[in-house]
Amino acid sequence: MRFPLPGLHDSETRQKDKIYYFTKQFNFQTTKMFMNSKKELLWQSRFSLPFDRDALLFSSSVHVDKKLYREDIQGSIAHVTMLSEENIVSVEDAAQIIAGLREIEEELSGGSLLPQWEDEDIHTVIENRLKEKIGAVAGKLHSGRSRNDQVATDTRLYMRRQITELQVALGGLLGVLIEKAECYHKTIIFGYTHLQRAQPISAGHYYLAYFNMFSRDRQRLHDLMKRVNISPLGAAAFAGSTLPLNAERTAVLLGFDDLFSNSIDAVSDRDIVIEFISDCSMIMMHLSRFAEDLILWSSYEFGYLEISDAFATGSSIMPQKKNADIAELVRGKTGRVYGNLMAMLTIMKGLPLSYNRDMQEDKQPLFDSAETTIGSVTIFAKLLEHTKLKEERLAKLTAEDLSLATEIAEYLVRRQIPFRDAHRITGKIVTWSIASDVTLPNIPIEKFREFCDAFEPDIYNCLKADVSVNSKKTHGSCSFDSVALQIEMARKEL
Ligand code: ARG
Repeated sequence: MRFPLPGLHDSETRQKDKIYYFTKQFNFQTTKMFMNSKKELLWQSRFSLPFDRDALLFSSSVHVDKKLYREDIQGSIAHVTMLSEENIVSVEDAAQIIAGLREIEEELSGGSLLPQWEDEDIHTVIENRLKEKIGAVAGKLHSGRSRNDQVATDTRLYMRRQITELQVALGGLLGVLIEKAECYHKTIIFGYTHLQRAQPISAGHYYLAYFNMFSRDRQRLHDLMKRVNISPLGAAAFAGSTLPLNAERTAVLLGFDDLFSNSIDAVSDRDIVIEFISDCSMIMMHLSRFAEDLILWSSYEFGYLEISDAFATGSSIMPQKKNADIAELVRGKTGRVYGNLMAMLTIMKGLPLSYNRDMQEDKQPLFDSAETTIGSVTIFAKLLEHTKLKEERLAKLTAEDLSLATEIAEYLVRRQIPFRDAHRITGKIVTWSIASDVTLPNIPIEKFREFCDAFEPDIYNCLKADVSVNSKKTHGSCSFDSVALQIEMARKEL
């Protein structure tokens, strides 16, 4: 029999994995192995048989939702404070409960209390521990509250914190993008369409395109926060309570901006979770595209960009390799976040109102999306900060490239040639240039005139990358002036 190596599987985080491992080995009979645990489940009294151990193991969510312990305790303290203010629980009892909860928070954060899977979920872990500490008084905490509004509250508090963290991470990335745009404001690079060199642009313009995308992502989170920061506490199981709960008060105590208006909706929707993961997916999609550019541009074939050695990886067999693993991982993790979005949509799609246990499955996709996205944004900003454009090589490549062809067509338009004709004439010039191996700026004027007699020697002024970039006159274009203006606006926005 093989057993997970100690050290590789530390007992707390891998607890449930281990149990699964055991259940496989022993053909799913945990009963004998865990007989020593005699904890009572919150709802056990109604039943004549103890809950089957394998069924409990299957339904326990402690290994996932233990992450919510801080939010759970925060919510409980607010709830019991309100209970005492409304004379539902005495001030002394409330004080005892609050002191106990504070101690449990320390025990959990310090690691002296390890949540056990037999407790079913983190709410039960905390409640059982409170009972151990202060006895029967602990049972008063749950007056007028169900785990349904409790978990909905915890989830919203968790999301509020993660949204703020993600906004901060995005702010960092936006800052790096502005720095890059400023630093490479006058560096000319190729702009691409269809991954074919299209037209020369200011590199600043390129970085600002991503600034705009991530700025919209941040706005989306800001908007989402309005829907997340609403208290569901006081909805109880789903129908409300006969006790004189003051839901406004708990909402205020927990820093919520608003209060649920329908108790069924308060406990049974998870649309904000789906919306959050959708916002995360959008961010990851933007990062993934950016990652793709970095990977391509840092390759030998492109050779436009150097990733700092501190953010590159090597190969265990090919000594020359310098890989962009961080960017690749961000691109790869995007797939996982998309998967979480699909999981959540599917979990919710067939659920009759109101609460169903299926909804417990929301936490893994939610936590994973939040952590993956925050981690990806943060590391990507750092990676980007440590990249350099290879300016000399870019200057050489952009100087004589066919991507100046649009300049020729627009030159002819300025000489009153209809654009479609100008396009056709330029196409022929490009074909000749490739066939004769003469770059566009080196084509003699006589040759230009063979294609169209509207050409004058001033055509050569257009055939310089910087002139091409800077003769762009339109709103939001790639000229140095336009980029400078965009940088100024971006700075203001940040
Ligand atoms: N662990 C549960 C969840 O995350 C808590 C709510 C349990 N409610 C219930 N009616 N069984 O959804």
